[in-house]
Amino acid sequence: MKVGIIGGTGLYKAGIIDNLEEKNVITKFGDANLMQGKFGEHQVYFLNRHGMGHKVPPHLINYRANIYALKQLEVEMIIATAAVGSLKKDIVPGTLVILDQFIDFTSGREHTFFTGQSNGVVHVDLTEPYCPNIRKLLVETAKEAELTMREKGTYVCTQGPRFETPAEITMFTGLGGDVVGMTNVPEVILAREAEICYGTVAVVTNYAAGISTANLSHKEVLQVMADNEGNLEQLIGNLLKKIGNKTQCFCDRSVSSQSKLSWGINDG
Ligand code: HPA
Repeated sequence: MKVGIIGGTGLYKAGIIDNLEEKNVITKFGDANLMQGKFGEHQVYFLNRHGMGHKVPPHLINYRANIYALKQLEVEMIIATAAVGSLKKDIVPGTLVILDQFIDFTSGREHTFFTGQSNGVVHVDLTEPYCPNIRKLLVETAKEAELTMREKGTYVCTQGPRFETPAEITMFTGLGGDVVGMTNVPEVILAREAEICYGTVAVVTNYAAGISTANLSHKEVLQVMADNEGNLEQLIGNLLKKIGNKTQCFCDRSVSSQSKLSWGINDG
């Protein structure tokens, strides 16, 4: 199978992949720089959404180019990682959260491929925003490795790049959020529009503003991600060993089942 790995903050390489080489993919939304290689039978593409060296802030990431590039490469499944702050005292830093829902507080991001006119209008279903099969595999694999993990979690996506105020965090908690981050939206939406199975393993790097009395720093986030890099690579590697050729889910028909639109990935 062709698999995409999208690394977030703190995951800039995919040490588990053999014969890695760089690849630049040109799409009609812009370029995506990624690495390609093999893991067993699988062709794997690794992409860091912030670019190598963390050069692109969350609100300026070209999410459409990234997902479209993976679509052009015929990727059927994406495993994404994300650094997050915890909205709850009992979700302690170091925990992995297998996301199952999100709440969107972003603004002004290009968040759809279907922009009307010749690009069509599609109202994609997000009852289960994250692929149930990838979620199941992530949960299973994390359990086997005895990692500290939550099987579910609602991700609140903020616009960033600033951290939140304690008042915002109180509101997010009241709304049912579990963790907060800046990048999963619109990535998860675009993957569904592109009919690619998509799952995210979030790494809790800190308590969100006001839950912790200390000030937040990006350095602290990077440190916890560095501490967890080995676990994440092991988790993704073990998961890749489990996947067969096709997952039984609805992701690959999310658009075609409700519209005559089809993916014209070679249409310029
Ligand atoms: N807020 C937003 N994004 C984050 C955080 C946070 O506390 N930690 C890691 N990414």
